[in-house]
Amino acid sequence: MPFIEAFNDSLAAHPLYTWTVLGVVVMGIIAFLVLSFISAPYGRHLRGGWGPTMNATVLWVVMEAPSPLSFAIVYFMSDNAFKPVPLILLGMYMVHYLYRSFIYPFRMRGGHKRKPILTGGLAITFNIANGSTNAFAITELSPHLLSTAWLADPRFLVGALVFAAGYAINHQSDAILRNLRKPGESGYKIPHGGFYRWVSSPNYFGELIEWTGFALAAWTVPAAVFVFFTAANLVPRAFSNHRWYLEHFSDYPKDRRALIPYLL
Ligand SMILES: NC(=O)c1ccc[n+]([C@@H]2O[C@H](COP(=O)([O-])OP(=O)(O)OC[C@H]3O[C@@H](n4cnc5c(N)ncnc54)[C@H](OP(=O)(O)O)[C@@H]3O)[C@@H](O)[C@H]2O)c1
Repeated sequence: MPFIEAFNDSLAAHPLYTWTVLGVVVMGIIAFLVLSFISAPYGRHLRGGWGPTMNATVLWVVMEAPSPLSFAIVYFMSDNAFKPVPLILLGMYMVHYLYRSFIYPFRMRGGHKRKPILTGGLAITFNIANGSTNAFAITELSPHLLSTAWLADPRFLVGALVFAAGYAINHQSDAILRNLRKPGESGYKIPHGGFYRWVSSPNYFGELIEWTGFALAAWTVPAAVFVFFTAANLVPRAFSNHRWYLEHFSDYPKDRRALIPYLL
């Protein structure tokens, strides 16, 4: 079986990397199973019984910052760090995660809310594993990324466009949500406009498209595993959010889907 041979080769050459990538796959499977029955206890699904909590804005920074930090540390340990294609992939990763870690938390309205520390702990574990394995695969394990010929490869070109489209959808959707509240407000309203015409969680839809584009452009195993984990986490939450809207707003648009326009 070529897959088992590739796994054994990788395990022999890079045991820590291989076990970490496998660990993210296992975390994704567990996350999907658990979140299909239990909504992650933050935001509109916040409830008691999940241990100590802390300020949501602070926890966002603490749990997301390990992603760009671990990526950057592993990335810049490599002799290939200043090659053009890895630099572009570094830029794609950072443009998302520097915003998500250090700007987004301070722009949220209602960030004074609490969030269970447990959710942050799980996110930190994923973010360190994901950031470091992606950086390692890009700089050390992917000969195709070390030549500028990759910049003309359809996988890179389509991937970069898909990434940009996902990034735009994610940001537009988060901005629509942010503008639903005036400063100091923390209640919920029905969002309209952008991809909210079609789905209840277009921010998650954009996030999934973004990392699918990144995986195409990078063409590495950890980037594909990143998409899998993101889907395992966000698909069940998109359904929880959709159900929540239908239960809380009698005038909620009935033709809106949960996550993917016209499909899901
Ligand atoms: N890669 C991943 O695995 C992953 C995982 C999680 C999140 N993310 C990304 O992180 C971002 C935030 O995720 P999230 O789960 O926190 O998103 P969310 O539940 O949609 O909430 C985003 C923000 O909008 C507010 N909000 C949501 N619905 C609202 C409504 N109907 N009316 C008024 N305000 C509303 C929320 O306030 P409250 O906090 O008060 O509810 C929060 O501040 C998204 O872009 C998502 O894609 C990525």
